[in-house]
Amino acid sequence: MSAPNLVLSCFPGIGLLDRAFEQQGYCVVAGPDLIFGGDVRDFHPPAGVFEGCIGGPPCQAFSRLRHLRAALGQQPAENLIPEFERVVAEAKPDWFVMENVYDAPLPSVLGYLVWSDVLQNRWFGAEQHRARRISFGTRDGRPLDLSPSMVALESPTWERAVMATSAKSGKLARSRAALKSQRVGGGLLPGSQPSRTVAESARLQGLPEDFLAHAPFTQDGKRRVIGNGVPLPTGRAIAAAVRRAMGNARGATGMSEAQETDLPEIDDDDNDSYQCVECGDAITNPDRLGKWHCDGCVAAQRRELAGTTP
Ligand SMILES: C[S@@+](CC[C@H](N)C(=O)[O-])C[C@H]1O[C@@H](n2cnc3c(N)ncnc32)[C@H](O)[C@@H]1O
Repeated sequence: MSAPNLVLSCFPGIGLLDRAFEQQGYCVVAGPDLIFGGDVRDFHPPAGVFEGCIGGPPCQAFSRLRHLRAALGQQPAENLIPEFERVVAEAKPDWFVMENVYDAPLPSVLGYLVWSDVLQNRWFGAEQHRARRISFGTRDGRPLDLSPSMVALESPTWERAVMATSAKSGKLARSRAALKSQRVGGGLLPGSQPSRTVAESARLQGLPEDFLAHAPFTQDGKRRVIGNGVPLPTGRAIAAAVRRAMGNARGATGMSEAQETDLPEIDDDDNDSYQCVECGDAITNPDRLGKWHCDGCVAAQRRELAGTTP
């Protein structure tokens, strides 16, 4: 049985999304990240320990800048969403949250149904204009209700998104500026702005301006890791919505009566009534996972994860 409130963070970066979940009372355990010398590809979490799993796989593979990278002859970025899916499949949490850019594909994990939406940071009272796609996976596909965190009126003034690639010294940023200046006949596009300071980036992400002041990163590195994170207002709204959707205690669903009525029926007293979500075969001896998969499909999934599928 998993520990209530224990959450595994994949691709944690400097932990902005983690911080938002901690502020909702979750205890977040950070998995490996390249910036601290770890690699998710070598990581295998224990099954059934974590209530939830959160993560923002790198988004370069789906960001709109990917076309510019291709035009510059750069290698396409690796898609690590399959690694997030593998970690979830191994950890078997009650729920997972994946955040990414608008164009990212939805995560797909055997036994989970995924609800997804695109959230705008300004909806949560923040100044920074930044949209992120979030996907919420559960056994029954329940949705997240973000409306209690939304403000009635967005700020009339707003700031462009904090970007991980906006540092002045970034090759891509220089190339982007060069392409823009070619397009407008030599001058920068109207509205082009210089890079932000670390303090400005931190403030717009919802952090104290002296955040990372003593951290062992270069100025460029600080801008990059802050820009890579989920803005705290958006992160807090997501964490609060997960808390409402999953309830404070095991068994409380946090769902409306209408949503409860739409759920597929599971009869805990009658093992014969379980059907595998993959093949539809009856499951005669359900355990926590077996409620959703027959032994054959579980074994096939394990072989696939281990890379031994013929
Ligand atoms: C979008 S950022 C995550 C930001 C984080 N969710 C936050 O809110 O602060 C993606 C992270 O994935 C990390 N990453 C990239 N490849 C990785 C790998 N193979 N293993 C582990 N982490 C990786 C990057 O270093 C980066 O910190």
